[in-house]
This record gives sequence, structure tokens and C-alpha cells, in this order.
Amino acid sequence: LVPPATLFGESRRNSEGYDLSDDKTLARIENGRKSLAPLQATPLTVGEATGGAVDLRNPATGEVIGSVVQADQDCVARAMSDAAIWDAPVTERAAILRKAADLYERDFGVIFALLAREAGKTQLDAVGELREAVDFLRYYAGEAERRPDALPLGRVTAISPWNFPLAIFTGQIAAALAMGNAVLAKPAEQTPLIAAHAVALLHEAGVPRSALQLLPGDGPTVGAALTSDPRIDGVVFTGSTETAKRIQRAMAKNLTPGAPLIAETGGLNAMIVDSTALPEQAVRDIVASAFQSAGQRCSALRCLYVQEDIAPALIEMIKGAMDELAVGDPWELATDVGPVIDREAKTQIDAYVAGRSAQVLHRLKAPNAGTFVAPTLIEVAGIEELEREIFGPVLHVATYKARDLDKVIDAINATGYGLTFGLHTRIDDRVQQVCDRLHVGNLYVNRNQIGAIVGSQPFGGEGLSGTGPKAGGPCYLDRFATPQGPQVAG
Ligand code: SER
Repeated sequence: LVPPATLFGESRRNSEGYDLSDDKTLARIENGRKSLAPLQATPLTVGEATGGAVDLRNPATGEVIGSVVQADQDCVARAMSDAAIWDAPVTERAAILRKAADLYERDFGVIFALLAREAGKTQLDAVGELREAVDFLRYYAGEAERRPDALPLGRVTAISPWNFPLAIFTGQIAAALAMGNAVLAKPAEQTPLIAAHAVALLHEAGVPRSALQLLPGDGPTVGAALTSDPRIDGVVFTGSTETAKRIQRAMAKNLTPGAPLIAETGGLNAMIVDSTALPEQAVRDIVASAFQSAGQRCSALRCLYVQEDIAPALIEMIKGAMDELAVGDPWELATDVGPVIDREAKTQIDAYVAGRSAQVLHRLKAPNAGTFVAPTLIEVAGIEELEREIFGPVLHVATYKARDLDKVIDAINATGYGLTFGLHTRIDDRVQQVCDRLHVGNLYVNRNQIGAIVGSQPFGGEGLSGTGPKAGGPCYLDRFATPQGPQVAG
């Protein structure tokens, strides 16, 4: 029998100290609230940008929390000529990245406040996000030291998403900087304040300004310029598969042949629960995988398959567990599900659910203010009914017969995506059967399928889900250096 909590890769945290039940932590969160006031009053400006200022809104309330002056073509051109590789010994670069990790931890109250206010992150998500960012800084510092002779690519564009505005933003930058590249970073349009704070901390730690420049702006202006200028030597991107394809086309047309694209993209992630699974554990992991972070993780569970013998009882348990979720202000410690990122996302997800109203098995209530979406359970015949990834708190559930397991796996493979997958079973051979047949980046057994841990669970997908190498893994940094044979020492 498979033990109840088998992990592929040992669970390990590199950083400690953000226990939400600890008074010291709560006091620091309170300080973060206070520090946010002046931050909110200061609009973020970039260089001598002449582009238009855009209001930034708290997704939970709709209130304006700041504004951003977006970079324009001139800013990008200036940044491109100011960019210079970070010509310091690898030990110095690594020490500075480690110092930045310490500064992130020092500022964690402010960071939590920004994550809640700008990105609608719950406190639990903010804890995980800060931890992951700090882990990336320390892990890539160590990985760079194992490659003392590596040479940087040159100028690297980093385009990051709003769903991990600190962790993925930092991970991309830390990897590129660790190898001595000059980074031009475009954060998501929705989350430039948190990005600006992270960049300020990296500069404070000692990263030269010419090696790290922040260019907030939109995709058609800043993103397009940063992926089609022939002086760019590589692009690291996390976002939709569609945008990754667009970037790949622009790079093929304009950049030096061989300039790498490192892309982490979408998923249509499934989980299979068979009749030998422990129901309470499966339900806990299903609910976390589908609804934590309001379902706004590329790793989130979208389509659950339950073996038909246990389906009626398990689905009732899922509904009961959904009823326990607190949907509301992410600033409240008791909240489980915060808002989705903006009105456009809310409108799209609500319209999708309305179009499937006949199949809705369960739907919670969500606050009217802001951009909350009610967690929803939808019945489907199989994953082939999902035409696209719905990036929110919507879980689809299908049932299957034991003899059809291979057909289910084939249907999951046929989506073309291959990011995360969850399996709840107590049968060893079944784990092997699924591993052998399924094309997926991260496969989790008898646990939830979100929250890969830097250094022990490298994260990334196959097929339409990304190019690799996996973030937070031992091969990632090689793509940020010129290919010149084996580079890893020791
Ligand atoms: N790395 C994140 C996770 O594992 C997804 O973006 O949940």
C-alpha cells in the first residue's frame, strides 16, 4: 500500500519564520499595514517615462491603491542601452542575492500588505509567496556558485505574471542575475507596486542598476519591444501558452538564432481519485488544489476524475468542504478564498459558469463588492469538455469506471498540456501505471498538487505547458548562460 502522504521529492522549506499563529509574525503584519499608507500615496514612476499613468485597484474593494506611470518605447530604448552585464565574481553576486533574501524577510510585513492589497492574496498565500521568493534567491545563488566558469547570455528580458507577482517575478530575475546577465524586467500590468518594491530591495542589496531595470507597461508596447529587439539575448516568460507562442514568433524573426525562450505556460490539470483513496484526505487535497489562491495558480486542479463506486459520497463530501471555505477580504486571517485579480477576469469566469448553469453541482456565495468569484463545482463527462483553462475557483468533476483508467489518462494527455497531476490511490501498481502513461511535469501522489518547493520539487510542464527547464531545479540556470559544454562544478 502507498502510505498516505507520499511525495515525489522530499518536502523541504529553505526559509522559516512565517508562522501565522505566532504573535511576532502578527505584529510584523500589523506594521506592514501601517507602512502601506505612505506607499499607497506615492505613485510609482519609472525614469522619465512619458507614457500614461494608470490607476491600480485593490481587487477586494475596487479602491485605488496607487498608480503606475507605464514605460513607453523611449524608456525601453534607454533601458536597452543602459543595460550592462553584471561583471562581478560569482561569489559576490551570490552574496548579494542572499542579502536580498534577507531584505525580503526584513520587509515581510510590507510585502504581505502589498500582496493583499495589489494582488488580493490571502495571508496564507502571501506566506507561501514570500517563502518561495526567498527560496529562489538563496537556491539560485548556490546553483550559480556551482558554475564558476559560466558566461552570461547578455541582456535577458523577464516577463512575469500577476498570480505570483513576487515569487515568479523574483525567481526569473534571480536566475538571470545569478549568472551575471543584465535583466530588463516587465512585471504584469496589474502588479507593478510589488515588483517595484522587490527591485528596490535587490538594488539595496547591491545589484547594480545597469544589471536590473524595471519596465512596467503593457504587452503590446513594452512586452513586444523587449522580445523583438535584436540586442536581447534571451527571454524568460511565465503566462499564457498563446502569449508564449507570440513571443517565440517575434524572437524567431528578430533575435539571434539560439537566443533561448524559457517559458512556463498554461495547464488543464487533472486529478484521479480511485476507490482505494482515503476520502477525507482526498477531499482536503482536492479543495486546496482547486480553490486555494482562488484557483489562480497554473498548477491548480481543473478536472477531477472520481472512480464511480465512491463518486456520490465523495462529491457530497467535497460540497461539504466547500461550504466551510471563507470567501472574503484577503486581509482577514480567517479568509480562505480572496478575489480574482480584476473585473475582466471576474466577468469572464462568471460568464463561463453561467454558460454551464445546467451542470453546476454546487456554488458558494461571494461578496458583491470587488472582484470575488464564488467557488463552483461543475459536472462534466470528461476533460475533453474543457476547451480552455478557466483561471479561477471553478472545479470540474467527472466519474470513471475502473476498467477505463487508461482511457482517462489518454484523454488527459490528449489536451496537449502537461503541467501538474494529482493521484489519490493506495495501490502501488496504479501509481506506476499512471507514471508510465501520463505526460506531465509534476505528478503528486496522495497530496495536493500546488505549491512546488524550490530545490526539492522543480516545477514546469511538458507540451503546451512550457519549454523547460524546470524552475527551482538543478538544470534551470544552464539556460541563462552561453552553451559551452559542461559548466557544473563539484
Ligand atoms: N509554482 C506554483 C505551484 O506549484 C505554480 O505556479 O503552485
